[in-house]
Amino acid sequence: MNSISKTLLAMAVVAVVAVGGVAASVYSGAYNVAADDPHTRPVHTFMETARERSIAARARQLQVPADLADPARIRQGAGNYDAMCTGCHLSPGVGPTELSKGLYPAPPDLTRTTVSAAEAFWVIKHGIKASGMPAWGKSMADDYIWNMAAFLQQLPKLDKAQYAALVANSGGHSHGGGETGGHSHAGGEDDHHSGAGDAQMEGGAAEHDHDKAPASTTTHTHADGKRHEHAPASADEVRAPKPAPVAQPADDGHDHQH
Ligand code: HEC
Repeated sequence: MNSISKTLLAMAVVAVVAVGGVAASVYSGAYNVAADDPHTRPVHTFMETARERSIAARARQLQVPADLADPARIRQGAGNYDAMCTGCHLSPGVGPTELSKGLYPAPPDLTRTTVSAAEAFWVIKHGIKASGMPAWGKSMADDYIWNMAAFLQQLPKLDKAQYAALVANSGGHSHGGGETGGHSHAGGEDDHHSGAGDAQMEGGAAEHDHDKAPASTTTHTHADGKRHEHAPASADEVRAPKPAPVAQPADDGHDHQH
């Protein structure tokens, strides 16, 4: 056996032992997946590098809108950030939350960290695998995501009062889950979305609507069950089929006769 063959054989043995060791540690359950037990250093380095390289490579291909500094974009982004992100990424003057403390990898404090607009857009739209960061692009049109990326460029410069003022003028939580007009859930509109009011109006029938609501709610995918009640809107949809068979085919008929 020449020396090259010996070296190759030695490398093959080392590789087999290494893969075997990793496999054994995985299959035996030795590797701890608990969020309160940080990754070992090699795994952490591997995950960090993979994340950074992956985001950078994809963000580089994005066309950043030229008007990202438009105050209207920043204002609009503030409302969505406040409604959807603060639980994990915090807001000025607010300390850590249960989510921000408990998640691993930890969500960065975006009141102290600036992420470039392109990278922020990409991460907000697509999320990050096996972390708490959701893919908001499943329920939000790109323009709304750019608005949040625009807002994030300002966030570290805002104090508590400036932040509150922007959120108050933002029009609240609104996004286009595909429909470009979007819809707003700013304070004033809460009544029309209030489950309790609907239940009173509906009387006995409300029970059925509530039973059905969760199924319909999932189609809205706003990923913010807390602030943002879609149950009554879903109840509307549940009720809609009753008049629909009369109204809808008639409309369709007219359209198609042309
Ligand atoms: C349930 C918690 C959670 C929510 C809600 C959440 N995020 Fe995240 N986010 C995370 C975590 C965790 C990470 C870090 C993931 C990692 O390091 O792999 C992250 C990462 C990010 C990053 C990347 C930061 C960087 O340094 O690259 C941005 C930007 C971001 N989130 C923005 C948002 C915005 C905007 C929202 C609201 C629309 C939001 N996130 C909502 C948990 C969350």
